Amino acid sequence: MSLEPETPRSCPVRVAGTGSYLPERVMTNHELEEAVDTSDEWITSRTGIRERRIAKEGEFTSHMASEAARRALDQAGVAAIDIELIIVATITPDTLTPATACYVQQQIGAFKAVAFDVSAACSGFLYAMELARHSVGAGAFRNALIIGAEKLSAFVDWNDRNTCVLFGDGAGAAVLLPSTNGGGRILSSTLGTDGAQAELLNIPGGGSACPALPGAAPARPAVLSMQGREVFKHAVNAMRQAANDAIAAAGLGIADIDLIIPHQANLRIIDAIVERLDFNRENVFINLDKYGNTSAAAVAIALDEAHREGRVKPGDRILLVAFGAGLTWASAVIEW
Ligand code: COA
Repeated sequence: MSLEPETPRSCPVRVAGTGSYLPERVMTNHELEEAVDTSDEWITSRTGIRERRIAKEGEFTSHMASEAARRALDQAGVAAIDIELIIVATITPDTLTPATACYVQQQIGAFKAVAFDVSAACSGFLYAMELARHSVGAGAFRNALIIGAEKLSAFVDWNDRNTCVLFGDGAGAAVLLPSTNGGGRILSSTLGTDGAQAELLNIPGGGSACPALPGAAPARPAVLSMQGREVFKHAVNAMRQAANDAIAAAGLGIADIDLIIPHQANLRIIDAIVERLDFNRENVFINLDKYGNTSAAAVAIALDEAHREGRVKPGDRILLVAFGAGLTWASAVIEW
């Protein structure tokens, strides 16, 4: 007889719908040439980014998240009022409290949902997916709405060429449902964190360590600070490992994967991973040229675009893999 507590039986969970939203305003590399000492040639050759989207004044993370959520709900055929769990992954919340997910709950009319945020930077959407998968799979919630949303333009120093050329705004969402009659499921997922490297990429000001008090600017600014070269190296190693781990956990090999949707930070990072995985570059989804790095939104937006462009077909196995501040990393294999 086992003395272990009985593990509840978990049912498989599928992605039933996806959606995304990008602000209308396009900011090109040429525009950035006017603002800082950079060039379209430098940005394109070092990152692959050509333009990014910038939210307008008064357009917050929650507004973008809500629009992406409406589109995902619409595609899934699920009414907002029937949603039981909302998780928003973001590092650029509307406010420090309450969570951005609370604003989204109101904006879309999901009044019965439990709503909270996760902060895991660019890995956040996959962290949210894993939490939601287990919550729905265990029967604690009948469904979940997961969202990655960022207004990074509000947390970028527009005079710092090291960072301002890299980031953009946007949101992506997915509806998760129990997979009762086949029709796809999330096969595996891995998550990882290395807090020892927290200093490599952070927003130092504005939190309790360095508060923005009335009448005074925080001693350290509330903008992204990054040691790019170091982050680059960690990103390649961690994403390659996370990809292999999720594929192995699904009982598959790289040859079984039909499409890779990686975090969209830098084309050179993606190329390095794809080469190490020995995977066909044509089957890698890339949209960072249009949007730059949208952190937690990036994989979510890419998943939705890949889906709507017909690059994801029933039965396909898709590898999602991400890396970000924390440091954090995450991966998942989905059978569509
Ligand atoms: N325009 C022109 N020159 C720039 C520049 C810009 N926008 N940004 C930096 N430079 C300069 C640097 O000042 C440096 O000049 P120096 O040699 O005179 O000091 C030079 O370009 C090279 O800098 P380096 O940091 O070595 O460039 P890089 O090839 O590593 O590319 C990043 C820089 C940021 C693009 C790259 O390191 C990267 O993508 N890192 C990971 C970022 C990331 O993914 N972050 C999010 C994780 S999810």
